[in-house]
Formats: sequence, structure tokens, C-alpha cells
Amino acid sequence: MKRYVLMAISLVFIIILGACSTNLGNMNPFQMMKPLGDRSGGSMMMGHGLGNVLLQPSTGENELKIPPILQKDKEEGNDVYYTIEAQQGETEIFDGIQTKTLGYNGSFLGPVMRLKKGQTAHIKLKNSLGEETTFHWHGLIVAGDADGGPHDVIQPGEEKEVTFEVKQDRATLWFHPHPQGKTAKQVFNGLAGLMYIEDDMDDPYVYGENDFPLIIQDRTFNEQKQLDYEAVKIPDGTMGDTLLINGTLNPRLTVNNEKVRLRLLNGSNARNFTFTLSNNQSFQQVASDGGLLNEPVELTELQLTPSERAEIVVDFSKVKENEDVKLVIEDGTVLLPFQVANEDTKIQKEIPKPRNPVTISNEEMQKEVSKEIVLFGMMNHVTINGKKFDPNRIDFTQKKGETEVWEIYNKPDMMGGMIHPFHIHGTQFKVISINGEEPPENLQGYKDTIAIEPGDRAKVAVKFEEEGVFMYHCHILEHEDNGMMGQIKVE
Ligand code: C2O
Ligand code: CU
Ligand code: CU
Repeated sequence: MKRYVLMAISLVFIIILGACSTNLGNMNPFQMMKPLGDRSGGSMMMGHGLGNVLLQPSTGENELKIPPILQKDKEEGNDVYYTIEAQQGETEIFDGIQTKTLGYNGSFLGPVMRLKKGQTAHIKLKNSLGEETTFHWHGLIVAGDADGGPHDVIQPGEEKEVTFEVKQDRATLWFHPHPQGKTAKQVFNGLAGLMYIEDDMDDPYVYGENDFPLIIQDRTFNEQKQLDYEAVKIPDGTMGDTLLINGTLNPRLTVNNEKVRLRLLNGSNARNFTFTLSNNQSFQQVASDGGLLNEPVELTELQLTPSERAEIVVDFSKVKENEDVKLVIEDGTVLLPFQVANEDTKIQKEIPKPRNPVTISNEEMQKEVSKEIVLFGMMNHVTINGKKFDPNRIDFTQKKGETEVWEIYNKPDMMGGMIHPFHIHGTQFKVISINGEEPPENLQGYKDTIAIEPGDRAKVAVKFEEEGVFMYHCHILEHEDNGMMGQIKVE
């Protein structure tokens, strides 16, 4: 069966090549697969055609749901206590229809957990699912034993408490399950929540008023409007035809005539998004995965691959009266129409500067590469450095507190290849270079996931502040589940 698929793919490839060669002269197939300047999902669509699924545009008929803020169980001085319960439930995503879903402290997705730098968090984790799960804090600087990777399984009906000190500056992080081989399905069914790290800095934006999270996901529902992961699963990354933002179908967002901060999370299993505004207005990216950028970066488009976050500020006071403005993606598909209310608040909301600007020292710049990561393969054959994940194998070691330069290479395959979003647990890293060049400005802040295009090499400076065993992997969840993951032991 697999061989037939491969043969069919190669055939299609040869036909396309044949058809293109007349126009493209002596361009090599790899260049053909990777249109110039395309940092979107395009290379995936062209390289690995099996996975491409068209997304239905949002009609804008439903106001965007805003996730609740998780209430503390208690607070004693610096110690805060929370409970997170993974549970099964039913959610009305489509009018009048109950869809079976998973959620944290609710039936679908999860609340926003707010933590402050310096606090000690005690989080009670409850598994009320019918199967094992873990609770992973994506982007959190935390010790391996609190990180919630595949080793930290909680059996159905059981609970556990994790404790950690919040050590990093303000950032938009998230949490999701990470059980070996089952991450994709559990996330697909609804397990994902946001974790906001805050500090004592004045932040002029107000949650739910002019500061909105956007958890952007694509899903496929069956005729009964149920999620049937096994039926729609694509080994090279499951894409859906139905867009959900914060679990809202056909969302729209009503905003005031003012600056609004959107905290974008690509919470999809596999789809890449390149966001723009339909009126071509620019926006400012103020934060990347791990926190504030040194300076806001003015952009008209922004790509996020699975698990990446960006905080952007859109100035709706610049939208002309009767002008339509929508968040759209590269092919024009509408994700989120905005309804701009006329209320003029006239408050200038400046984003504070980062407490600790991100800099790469000369020493870090000059360090030799000490860890090489080769991402390769497709579908069930994905590997890192030629190997599949083995929970009993430690692939690398690194000393706590020491910076090492990792080079991540996405080795093209006969199909050209696809973007792999490469993620490291327990750290926020700095991008030194991509193909030897300085990274674009919006990649010059802290990152925990970096999109690597086929043929590209990125050098990143990685430091772990905490000990333990940490995963690194491709964040296309099917690739992760298929073993595109390794582990590093930090001592
Ligand atoms: Cu978003 Cu291994 O995690
Ligand atoms: Cu992670
Ligand atoms: Cu991948």
C-alpha cells in the first residue's frame, strides 16, 4: 500500500516536472518546489500535495468567544495554586448540535492561566479523560520533571501536582497534552489552553477589551458534526477544512476604534498561516514566542507555523469609515472579520519595552556549532538525525546554564520537502542566523519554535536554566507522534 502511494506520488511528480520543464528551463526540482519568497504553506502544498485541504472562510456570523481567565484555588504570598482538569464534554460548535470534545476545566479548549514572574506555581493536574495524558507547558522555562513531556503520564482518573518557579519575563505561552503517539489526537479534540506570564510592568491593554487571544485552528468535522480524528488523520500533518478561533465557528471580532493587541497562537496540528489584513494595513509585531521584541516590528504579513505565537498590535483608528477590515491568509481566505465600533477612546497605548532586551553576545556569535539536528522525511518516515523517538534513548546532553549553538537543517527529500516547525522544550532560544544571514527582525526575539524551510539551516543559541530531560521535535503533531522527536538531558 505504502509503495503504491509512493509510486503514485513519484508519478505525479514526474508528470508535473515534465509539464513545468518547458517553461522553467533548467530550474532544478527543488527550486520549483519552493517558489521564491514564499514562506507560506505553499511549499507544503506543492511538495506534499496529499495534505492540502482548503479552508472555508469565516462568514463572521458569530462573535468570537473569549476564553475565561482561570481562577486561583488560593494564593499565599508568592505561592499560587491552580487546578487544571483534562475532561471530556460536549460543545455546541454548530447551531443546535452537540459535538463531543475535550477541554481543560470545561468542554472545549481551556482557560487562560495567568502567572507572574517570581511566583511559585502549584498546579494540580487531573486526568478525567478516558485515556492517559500529560500536561505540557509549551515555552515555559521549567525543570524536566515539571515539563509534562511524554514521560510524565497521568493515568485516567489520577491526579498529580507540579510545582515550579516562574522565572521568565512576560510572554504568551500555551499548554497542551504530550502523551507519546497521542498528542495529535488529543489536541485535535480540543486540549489546548493559554498561559500568560506577566510581570509588574504596566500594561495598558485590557483582556477581552483591547487585548484578545486568537487560538487559530483548523479541524474537519464529519457529517454528524463530530470530530473523528482517525478518519481524517493525514500522516504528513492533519489539516482541516473548518476554521475555529477560540473554538468559535465563523468568528467575527468587534473592536473599538483604537489600538488592539491580538495574541495569535497557531494551534493547528499542521497548517501554516501567513496572516495579513484585508485592507493591506500594516500592523506591529510586538512579541514573539518567548516575549517582547526589543522594538515593535512593522509588518504587512506574518507567518506562524504550528505552535508559534506572536503578539501584534493593530491600529483600528486608521481604518477608514465604511472600510472593511479582516484578518486574512495568503490566499485571501477570511479568518476573522473585524467590526470596528465608532467609539474613539483616544488613549495612546504604547507597548512597554522589554525588561531584558534580547541580545546575542559576540561570544555566542562566535561559538562553534555543537549540536547538529537534521530533519528529514515525510509521513510515517520522518526522522531527526536519522532516528525515530525512543523514550529510552538520550540523544544529547547539555550543561545547565551553558549556551550551545544548535544547527538545524531541513534536508530536502525527493518531493522537495516541507516546512518543519522545530521546537525545544524548557527553554527560549535566540536565532543567530538562517542560511548564514541575520534573521528577519521579528525572529530576533526569544523563540521556542522555529520554522525551517526545506534546504534551510538555522543556527540558534540554546541555554537551559533548569535540569532534566527535555524533548525537541517537529511541531507538526503527526510528525511528533510519528517519532520526529528526540531528547536532551540537561545536568
Ligand atoms: Cu508544544 Cu513538545 O510541545
Ligand atoms: Cu513544548
Ligand atoms: Cu515535521
